This record gives sequence, C-alpha cells and structure tokens, in this order.
Amino acid sequence: MNLYDISLRHGLVLAPMSGYTNWPMRALSRRFGAELCYTEMISSAGLIKSTKNTLPLLDRPMEDAPLIAQIFTASPDDAGLSARIIQDQGFDGIDINMGCPVKKVVHKGAGSALMKDISLAQRITESVVQAVSIPVSVKIRAGWDSGSLNALAMADSLEKTGIACITLHPRTRAEMYLGTPRWEILSTLKAQLKLPVVASGNIKTVQDLENLRCLGADAFMIGRGAVGNPWIFRELSGGPGPEAVERIEILLEHLDMLCSVLGDQRGSRFMKKYLSAYVKGLPGAALFRQQACTAENALKLRSIIKEFSNSW
Ligand SMILES: Cc1cc2nc3c(=O)[nH]c(=O)nc-3n(C[C@H](O)[C@H](O)[C@H](O)COP(=O)(O)O)c2cc1C
Repeated sequence: MNLYDISLRHGLVLAPMSGYTNWPMRALSRRFGAELCYTEMISSAGLIKSTKNTLPLLDRPMEDAPLIAQIFTASPDDAGLSARIIQDQGFDGIDINMGCPVKKVVHKGAGSALMKDISLAQRITESVVQAVSIPVSVKIRAGWDSGSLNALAMADSLEKTGIACITLHPRTRAEMYLGTPRWEILSTLKAQLKLPVVASGNIKTVQDLENLRCLGADAFMIGRGAVGNPWIFRELSGGPGPEAVERIEILLEHLDMLCSVLGDQRGSRFMKKYLSAYVKGLPGAALFRQQACTAENALKLRSIIKEFSNSW
C-alpha cells in the first residue's frame, strides 16, 4: 500500500496522540513495526507565532521518518501558512485534524467542530493543498453527533481538494473515545470514493485488522493500544508479544529517551503516563504503580523499576 508516496508493507501506522506521541514513543513504535508516524496535533496559529509550546512539537532526530505533521486550525489562511513552515522543516506530509473532540479546540471552531461546517473544512484543506507540494491528508470522525453522521459528505468534499488520503475514526464527537466504532461508514466511504482510507479506532488484534481489511481499509492506525505497548506493531505483523524482561528493558529505555529530551525531572514525570501500561499483568504491578507515583526524580524511578523487576 502506498500512502503519502510511502510504500507500507503491513499498513501499520502510529496515531497522532496529544501528550503521548513525541519522538521517544515514535522511535519505539517504529522499532517494533510502525511503518509511519504522526506528530501530535499542532496549532497552526502557534506555529506561525513560533510559540514556545509549539516549536518543540516539531523537534525530532533525523531517523524519525517517515513522519507526518498534524495541524489544527479553523482558519484557511493560518492553515496554508503553517503548512509551508512544516514543508520547510522536511516533513513527509501534513495531516489536518478534523476529529479532535476536546472543548478547548472545538470552541475555537477547529478539530471535530469542522464536521459541522463542511464548506470551511474544504477551504482549510484547499489552502493547505495549494500551499505545499508534499502530500496532504485529513482525519475525520463519523460526524458531530448521532443525528449528523456526515462523514461521507465530508470525505466527498475533501476528496475534490486533491488530498492524498483520509483517516476515519468512526465515532461522533459526542462519543469522544467510547463505544463501538461505526465501521459500516468505512465500507460506505470505500464504495463511494477513490481515496485511500486509514482506519482508526480500537484496533488491537490481527483479527481486527482482517475485519477492517475486508471492509476496505487501506491502512491501520493504532493509538491507545500502543501506549506502553510498542510491541503491538510486532504482534499485528504476526510476531510474538513481549516477555516480561523485554518490557522492563524497553520501559527503562523509554525513560532514558524522555529524560534526554525533557531533562530528568520532567522526563520522569512524563514517563508516568506510560508506566501502568508497560507493567500491565506483571506480578506485583499494582504495588509498583503506587510506588512509582511517588518517585520524585528519574534516579528514584529507575531504582523502583529495578526493584520491581528483581522481585520476580
Ligand atoms: C490521549 C489522546 C490524545 C489524542 N490526540 C490526538 C491528536 O493529537 N490528533 C488526532 O488526530 N487524534 C488524536 N487522538 C485520537 C487518536 O488518534 C485515535 O483516532 C483514537 O484514539 C482512536 O484510536 P485508538 O482506539 O487506537 O486509540 C487522541 C486520542 C487520545 C486517547
């Protein structure tokens, strides 16, 4: 499968996830089989103003590729300007977020609020497509709520702008991240449009992949299933799950990477987002989680992790 001019063997991609998918998580996901990654969503306005919270989101080492940068905005002008900045920074593509359900984003008319305004969504997308020569994509939801399931109308309009592919997370904004994804929308999109479609939502097993492939999915985006579990990509490509020892090794490596980017204090605090998932199901995990929460720096956290792994 070809996405963004990149050839993918299994079609396994790491989802954009705000506050999670910085380069350490991307590096580990790639090591175990993610073939393409996205940055977390980045404010177009923040990029244009070069704000101190925005610029670090573009930071990555050379080997962190192929990488698609994701923007969010409600302004066609900002969309085009920010797209040029991203292109100049050497990214492989630009994705436009039209699915984020959080109030802070939606209240500004961006993210999934665009599902309520197809004409604005189309103008934003046109502005990006015209501003850059790298491939452009859009990530959408099923609709705003169950009374307005308009993913097909949205995708149909966006296809006309010349985008390279579309990602469908087939829940409504009202459903946030809960409930069964409405995969029947994927089949409809594939039947009506020519665009390659990336499926996103609760993909965890080889059987999930098979089911979605049958519905026509061209690629598979893994989000929460990859948090503290980069091996999901290996398992989805037919390989084994992790042994306990491997989990601890990678957990420690993840901590080191975060500390090298963010410094010891912030790195160890950031690592706590992933810890529970790394140790899920291991003996003594509950006590470990309690102890790890109290670690005030990376040194202490490393020693708690080592003590935990020595206990079995
Ligand atoms: C904590 C969190 C942050 C997310 N941030 C983004 C984001 O920045 N951009 C985006 O398009 N989707 C974002 N998503 C949605 C995911 O990309 C994905 O579509 C959704 O979680 C469903 O897939 P999953 O069940 O594999 O997690 C986020 C999801 C979560 C849980």
